[in-house]
Formats: sequence, C-alpha cells, structure tokens
Amino acid sequence: MTSDSYFDSYASLYDQLQPVLIENYRTYHSLALDFVPGDSGSGLRILDLGCGTGTFLNSVFMARPGSTALALDYSQEMLDRAAEKPSLRQPDVEFVQRDLNDGLPTDIGKFDLVLAFSAIHHLGTAAKKSLIQQVFDSLVPGGWFFLVDAMVDQFDDDVFAMGRGRELRLRSERIDASSHPSEVFDKFDEIKGRLAEGSPERDRIASVQNHVGWMEGAGFTSIDHIWHHWFEHFFIARR
Ligand SMILES: C[S@@+](CC[C@H](N)C(=O)[O-])C[C@H]1O[C@@H](n2cnc3c(N)ncnc32)[C@H](O)[C@@H]1O
Repeated sequence: MTSDSYFDSYASLYDQLQPVLIENYRTYHSLALDFVPGDSGSGLRILDLGCGTGTFLNSVFMARPGSTALALDYSQEMLDRAAEKPSLRQPDVEFVQRDLNDGLPTDIGKFDLVLAFSAIHHLGTAAKKSLIQQVFDSLVPGGWFFLVDAMVDQFDDDVFAMGRGRELRLRSERIDASSHPSEVFDKFDEIKGRLAEGSPERDRIASVQNHVGWMEGAGFTSIDHIWHHWFEHFFIARR
C-alpha cells in the first residue's frame, strides 16, 4: 500500500461523502438488509469483500448479533475505519488487508453470507471471474452471495445523454444541499484526481451479462436480480 492509495486517502471522508456522491447508496444498503437470511437469534458467518468502512457489515451485525466475519479490503485505512464501527468488534471480526486481484486468502473456511458491495468493479476481468468462483466455493450449501456493483448496460444514445445529465445534475444538487463544507468535496476531487492510471483501485466496470455468466459458470443454483437503477445492480445468488 502506498501513500498514493486513493481509498486510503478517501477513508476519512468516506462515511460523510459517499451517501452524497452515490445516489442510491442508502437505498441499496437498506434493501439488502431486508434480504439478510435468518433472524435476530441467528448469528451468521460472513465474508465481506472490499468492506470499506464497514457500514453495511455493521448494520448486519446489529440485525444478527452473534455473527462473525472476515472483512477484506485493499486499503488499510478503510479497514481501520471499519474496526471503529460500534458493532464490529475484534475478534468477532477479523480485518485483513488484501488485493482481491490476488483472490481470497487460503484456509478461510466456509461462510453463510458473502458481501461484495461496490468492490468487484475495481478488479481486472480474470480476477473478477475467478473471485466469483472462489466466492461460490467458500459458501456453505444454500449460502448467500450479495453482489451490489456498478455494471454497464447498452443505452439508446438519447437515453444515455438524459440519464447522464440527470445523474450529474442531481449529484450537484445533493452536494449543494449537504451540510458538509464545499472544501471537503474539493478535497475529494483532489484525491480522485491523483488516482494513477494503472492503479488497482481504478474502476473497471464489466457488463451485467458478464456477471450473470460468471455466477452461472461458478455453479450458483439461483441468481436473482433484485434491483437496478442506471449502472447500479443488486444480485442475490445462492449456492
Ligand atoms: C466504493 S468502496 C465500497 C466499500 C463498501 N463495500 C461500501 O459499500 O461502502 C470500494 C472498496 O473496495 C476496496 N478496493 C478497491 N480495490 C480493491 C482491490 N483490488 N482489492 C480489495 N479491495 C479493493 C476499496 O479500498 C474500498 O474500500
């Protein structure tokens, strides 16, 4: 990890800014929480891929006390922020710095639920495909894979122009309406501007069809497309 890591630099601003910058950030967290298996009496064994600051994992731990997790992320700063979340206590949660382009660590056991929220789109194509296979292999029979990510679709050119215009206008309106000083958004722009061309943290968005094909190829018995808006998609696949 170098000091030029985009997500290391962004970590301290992430919880403040991500819900402002990403239109449906809270929507898909809240939606996904409604699909977490079990009930408040059943702890889950969870693997969180690209856990970031642990916002969603923290919500799952509040809803499913007694859960344990392995939380992986490329950014040590993100992991450190996640470890500060009130429900994410070590040793119930093990935080491990990992470049997912290298796949999952070995000997991590089996999981009831694997989360991959806005993380896989940072990986190279071969790494995406092989990680999805590793996710399948790491699930217990009947286990759940929540995949939330940006995926590309083809759009009519006029529809794309309208959708992109809307996205930028609404983002600008959310920034203007937010209580955060404009300097923090300037800081974000400056951090994003430093993201190196070859960085493993860059966006490498694949198609919806690719993701479905990789999950089918991995052997998932069901693949449900729960929600999508514009480039954001939420799938639940079960082993
Ligand atoms: C957009 S954030 C999403 C964080 C969290 N899952 C959420 O939904 O808020 C992407 C996360 O993926 C991590 N990440 C990016 N590239 C990665 C890689 N190659 N290996 C592991 N994690 C990576 C980043 O450090 C960051 O924490």
